[in-house]
Amino acid sequence: MATQAIGAPGPVISAIGLEKTYRTGAVAVQALAGVSVDVEAGEFVSVSGPSGSGKSTFLHLLGCLDRPTGGRYTLEGREVQALTSREPARVRRERLGFVFQSFNLLARSSALGNVELPLLYAGVGDAERRRRAAAALTAVELEPRLEHRPSELSGGEQQRVAIARALVNDPAVLLADEPTGNLDSRSGAAVLGILRQLNRERGLTVVLVTHDPRIAAAAPRQLLFRDGRLIADSRRAGPARAGRAGTAEEVSR
Ligand SMILES: Nc1ncnc2c1ncn2[C@@H]1O[C@H](COP(=O)(O)OP(=O)(O)OP(=O)(O)O)[C@@H](O)[C@H]1O
Ligand SMILES: [Mg+2]
Repeated sequence: MATQAIGAPGPVISAIGLEKTYRTGAVAVQALAGVSVDVEAGEFVSVSGPSGSGKSTFLHLLGCLDRPTGGRYTLEGREVQALTSREPARVRRERLGFVFQSFNLLARSSALGNVELPLLYAGVGDAERRRRAAAALTAVELEPRLEHRPSELSGGEQQRVAIARALVNDPAVLLADEPTGNLDSRSGAAVLGILRQLNRERGLTVVLVTHDPRIAAAAPRQLLFRDGRLIADSRRAGPARAGRAGTAEEVSR
């Protein structure tokens, strides 16, 4: 595919006035009312806000799972609206990893089989597929469970398999929607710990939707949504990045 933008300077995600209006019969719901935000490569960003504030809608647009009804979205320098019919699927497959609240694993396949699946679609050969899937499962500390099926794994372990599956294609961005929503607090903390570690050690860009204030607060950068708008964009004090670290920055009210 055309990879001219990969490694190019500039934000990995750039949204300008992003809007989404759902139309259901005669009813129109403006789920996103103009969201502008840039995310740099290597950032770890949480997205929180009340139920219905547009968090999942925002993540779906970032993930090219849906198209905005207004505004602009650029991913790694690519104008997403300009992509033709099949290209969003390819961008999703090659550049994005997804983790959802429900783990969406194949019940009849082992952990290894589940993680191999994206590589199978990408046409990677048997031995290489197995090697990369095992490495991804090792990265989420599951190498003792390669042959276990989902029913033979705990919820936290199943979510780690889903993270390994999301990572195995070496995506630019990992998008996670309530990945700890179905987990007890200890398993949730372990999943969050793995995401933080992947972000720190590999520079994986992570956008994490959560309604749990403690999980949101653990992120170096926190976006807060209300009524389809981004109402706060704050950064935890820490290592400076791109000259705008440190203090909370209110965007609008
Ligand atoms: N496919 C759809 N068709 C019509 N309306 C939708 C659709 N998806 C979401 N909405 C509406 O858009 C608004 C935002 O929904 P969204 O799922 O983005 O919220 P959310 O912040 O993720 O909420 P939650 O915390 O409950 O998951 C809601 O009012 C919702 O009813
Ligand atoms: Mg949601």
